[in-house]
Amino acid sequence: MTRLDDATATVAAYLADHESRDLLRFITCGSVDDGKSTLIGRLLFDTRGLFEDQLAALEADSRRHGTQSGRVDYALLLDGLAAEREQGITIDVAYRFFGTAKRKFIVADCPGHEQYTRNMATGASTAEAAVVLVDARKGLLTQTRRHSFIVSLLGIRHVALAVNKMDLVGYDRAVFDAIEAEYRALATQLGIDHVTAVPLSALEGDNLTARSSNTGWYEGSTLLEFLESVPVGGHGGRPGLRLPVQWVSRPNQDFRGFAGTIAAGQVRPGDEIVALPSGRRSKVARIVTADGDLEVAGPGRAVTLTLEHELDISRGDVIAAAHDAPEVSDQFAAHVLWFDGAPLLPGRPYWLRIGTREVGASVTEIKHRVDVNTQEPLAAKHLEMNEVGVCNLYLDQPVPFEPYRDNRDLGAFILIDRETNATVGAGTIDFALRRAANIHWQHVDVDKAARARLKKQAPRCVWFTGLSGSGKSTIANLVEKRLHALGLHTYILDGDNVRHGLNKDLGFTPEDRVENIRRVAEVARLMTDAGLIVLVSFISPYRSERRLARELFEPGEFIEAYVDTPLEVAEARDVKGLYAKARAGRIPNFTGIDSPYEVPEHAELVLDTVHESAEALAQRVVDRLLSPP
Ligand code: ADX
Repeated sequence: MTRLDDATATVAAYLADHESRDLLRFITCGSVDDGKSTLIGRLLFDTRGLFEDQLAALEADSRRHGTQSGRVDYALLLDGLAAEREQGITIDVAYRFFGTAKRKFIVADCPGHEQYTRNMATGASTAEAAVVLVDARKGLLTQTRRHSFIVSLLGIRHVALAVNKMDLVGYDRAVFDAIEAEYRALATQLGIDHVTAVPLSALEGDNLTARSSNTGWYEGSTLLEFLESVPVGGHGGRPGLRLPVQWVSRPNQDFRGFAGTIAAGQVRPGDEIVALPSGRRSKVARIVTADGDLEVAGPGRAVTLTLEHELDISRGDVIAAAHDAPEVSDQFAAHVLWFDGAPLLPGRPYWLRIGTREVGASVTEIKHRVDVNTQEPLAAKHLEMNEVGVCNLYLDQPVPFEPYRDNRDLGAFILIDRETNATVGAGTIDFALRRAANIHWQHVDVDKAARARLKKQAPRCVWFTGLSGSGKSTIANLVEKRLHALGLHTYILDGDNVRHGLNKDLGFTPEDRVENIRRVAEVARLMTDAGLIVLVSFISPYRSERRLARELFEPGEFIEAYVDTPLEVAEARDVKGLYAKARAGRIPNFTGIDSPYEVPEHAELVLDTVHESAEALAQRVVDRLLSPP
């Protein structure tokens, strides 16, 4: 187990001790000056003392395992977003813990500034209620609408509308009623079923933990009463067991158990289960925990299951009730929230983590994005930071899943950048797409090896990358002539040429360049499969897509050749006169001028055109090609 798994397990076990139905996780949101800190501070202060022992225990755990230098680190409780991969990313969410005689609370305070989707997704992914703050003097603001949209997207069904600073409007009922009515209309539009509006003053303490005499006209509950009575654990309508396997426990030859936290349903020894995605069935033998074997275990409980049969189950698989198993698919329609400064580009490969499983994934299509203020659908070719899009996703292997509205654990995912390992987006699955479900790989008897034997050559792809005018095509051309003279079968895929045909619908925006490279990489792979030596000559400015290309090939088959010509040199040569035009502002998005070129870090060949002739460099490529991989 990793350090974080270990710590998460410790804290999770601690929480499981205090039956999960006694615990409410909620988030607070609103715009900056609505008085959130005062409200939270006051809640903590008014309920203080009831909970010191438990707090001390959690504090001790945080000191041992946390990343908050001794501060209570409730981020340890988050499954997805606080993952180990997330090195270097600070999520600006503060977690606080308090309790009353009726219930314990974890409140996530999500700041409303710049990175608000990231913060809110972090805080809201496990929350069951939200407190939306509004300043009575200002009413609903853009941020209120925005945050409520994210709240609804993340499946929170219970919202307390805290109309704060009532003291500053003379506790005027009309003000409160108007704000409440406007918010109810918004909530209906967003599909938030349960709204409780509370007139309060966090500063004065009105209707926060105690009913206020200043609002004699108000007969509803205080904010604390709301928090104490919101139903919890109501998520996941279906009853069957869901256990995402966190790790396989094999302390000795005789014991093989599958450990994880039950996401939904109950389990008993003797229950019929199915392991997904394999679909193999067995029966539960034992439910093992640190406190001994259990006769039954339910949601939130960390357990290790042993089975009657030896099934091949690994981390990321899901053990589910055989009579009610989740679906398995590799294509989804989903809502995606984008966090990153660099946009989401369709076709670009990301890692996707769902439950405890991580797979390769890309967005095949952005159907539309959603205006977070008005919920209107808008056309989009990419998603910028804080944007929300309705997208089709394709995964490189099938995963067990459920629609988010049925099961948050198996319906939510995060997207991770493959270059930086940062969490760049989060999503909720709407439904599986079945378009490619009935397409099977057609077996052919004449295969790559047979074709290569006939041609007496080893198929290869040489991928030339570099700035426009760096000399890629010149060198590729020389290489092809020499190979041809040696009787080898070759083909050149050149950016300018392919853009006249197959890719003539594409321009030079980042999303078009991603698609340009995706297509040519697939074509190069097909040509290699046909037994050819393929020379690809495209700027291919992004590491991510060059990696995508590389991963389509067998080890040793793909040779990345970086044509290393500094911008000044390429620009001075300006063979096609394009740099002059770009400098004059007549070609937007020109590589090296106002569009980036990401220098290769692990190219097999670096071809320095400043110090060596094209002929000499071409010979190096030929030598490399003819040497065994
Ligand atoms: S890539 O970035 O998508 O890989 P590609 O290699 O297909 O580019 O095409 C690059 C060629 O298109 C350049 O050699 C140049 O002749 C031409 N071109 C036209 N506009 C641009 C531009 N904005 N940026 C770079 N190249 C451009």
